Amino acid sequence: MKKYIKLNINSTEYELLVNDNETLAQLLRGPQLNLTGTKQGCELGDCGACTVLMDGKAVNSCLVLAMQANGHAITTIEGLASNGKMHPIQEAFINAGAVQCGYCTPGMILKAKSLLDVNPNPSRKEIREAFVGNLCRCTGYFKIINAVEIAAKGQANKEAGN
Ligand code: FES
Ligand code: FES
Repeated sequence: MKKYIKLNINSTEYELLVNDNETLAQLLRGPQLNLTGTKQGCELGDCGACTVLMDGKAVNSCLVLAMQANGHAITTIEGLASNGKMHPIQEAFINAGAVQCGYCTPGMILKAKSLLDVNPNPSRKEIREAFVGNLCRCTGYFKIINAVEIAAKGQANKEAGN
């Protein structure tokens, strides 16, 4: 069965026709939106590649039905840059060399944003814990954790006016 839903995606309002078994990840990446920055890996909730923000909280969009997102605000990786300028977390990932395979990176960056929005100065342990659901299968987490630390320091310096 198909139904119209209303969503705010990256600060734009949409009314979209969705199938009752369509996931949010499929909707984002599909022809109506073409937001392919959200990746699909396991489609089982295990890898975190499909992480987006729903009302500011990180969710695995492969586990959320599009209909469940009705009325909510979604942020994808495409929504982080503003006025042609990358978000500081995106810059930190580049500066730390943390954009490794690239496939898991959008989900990692959105997970980092959800963490720093509630805990602007996390310890390395807290960062590791936050990333439990985001798998890196290639080179490891060292640079990814460094990137989150760099982003947190940048945020703190900005707030201090440095
Ligand atoms: S694709 Fe959603 S958690 Fe892996
Ligand atoms: S950086 Fe993507 S799997 Fe490791």
